[in-house]
Amino acid sequence: MTEVADSIAGVRTLISDAKKALIAEGIASPTVSLVPTMGALHDGHLALVDKARERGHIVVVSIFVNPTQFSASEDLQRYPRDLQSDRAILDGSAREGDRSIIVFAPSVDDMYPNGPTQTTVTAGRAGSTLEGRSRAGHFDGVLTVVAKLLNIVAPDTVFFGRKDAQQAFLVGRMIADLDFTTAIEVVATVRENDGLALSSRNRFLDEKERRASLVLSHMLEAAESAADRGIDTVIAAAQSVAMGEPLVQVDYLAVVDPGTFLPVDDDYRGKAVVLVAARVGTTRLIDNETIYLG
Ligand code: PAJ
Repeated sequence: MTEVADSIAGVRTLISDAKKALIAEGIASPTVSLVPTMGALHDGHLALVDKARERGHIVVVSIFVNPTQFSASEDLQRYPRDLQSDRAILDGSAREGDRSIIVFAPSVDDMYPNGPTQTTVTAGRAGSTLEGRSRAGHFDGVLTVVAKLLNIVAPDTVFFGRKDAQQAFLVGRMIADLDFTTAIEVVATVRENDGLALSSRNRFLDEKERRASLVLSHMLEAAESAADRGIDTVIAAAQSVAMGEPLVQVDYLAVVDPGTFLPVDDDYRGKAVVLVAARVGTTRLIDNETIYLG
């Protein structure tokens, strides 16, 4: 079951009513989990919702295609929007006895009544590399809308997918830097059986592109296999996978320190994150994997 609020005041009322009902049931301090999304829900999003259910009494899923994180060249209009189908997907994921999910689906006017906010969150250095370099201003838009959602919903825990590792890292930094009281939990990437990470963009791939898209996860596997042979070998191993596939144009391939999200040096040892972004036909895909540099 889902209950939908289409305004900020509406979602606050639903949350406070749900808390009162739980207190009446004898739960002294009901907890709230938030899963921020842009809709077009798939099993990757549902993995976050599952974790949110495990951790909180009340689950809020926000569905908002945030215009301020799209750059002019990206197709904001093309982003799939279908609230009824998203509600059906959430209903389908509910198990016997689950409490109903609060869906927060505000309009752009509700979130930005005077156009984009005058006050914004700036992602800083780690926000202008990788995805931030390819998509100028993207992470400022993401962090600003996430800050708003944290203030609107006031969740105990917010859930992000490792699929968007840089985004999860930057939200964690914002929470720490700006002393938000919400905890962040990062959930493992959900993949198709053949390894392709689930993404709402996968629907744009035709048959040939779908086959070619496996290059991303194969690049990460190659990087992992070379992890004890030095960073140059890691990068070369991953790059060589992409060379054989003419439909794939690599945008970036990087190995970063998970503590800073900045590229690692030659002498770096230990946990690192390999990230890849590539255009498969006209569709841009991203993926990443944690490796251990020996
Ligand atoms: P969206 O792309 O809808 O993703 C919502 C959440 O689902 C993100 O935390 C993302 O990392 C996670 N997710 C997507 N695919 C996944 C997969 N295959 N496995 C695990 N998790 C996955 O990311 C955004 O929306 C927006 O930037 C948002 C944070 C909502 C701010 O507007």
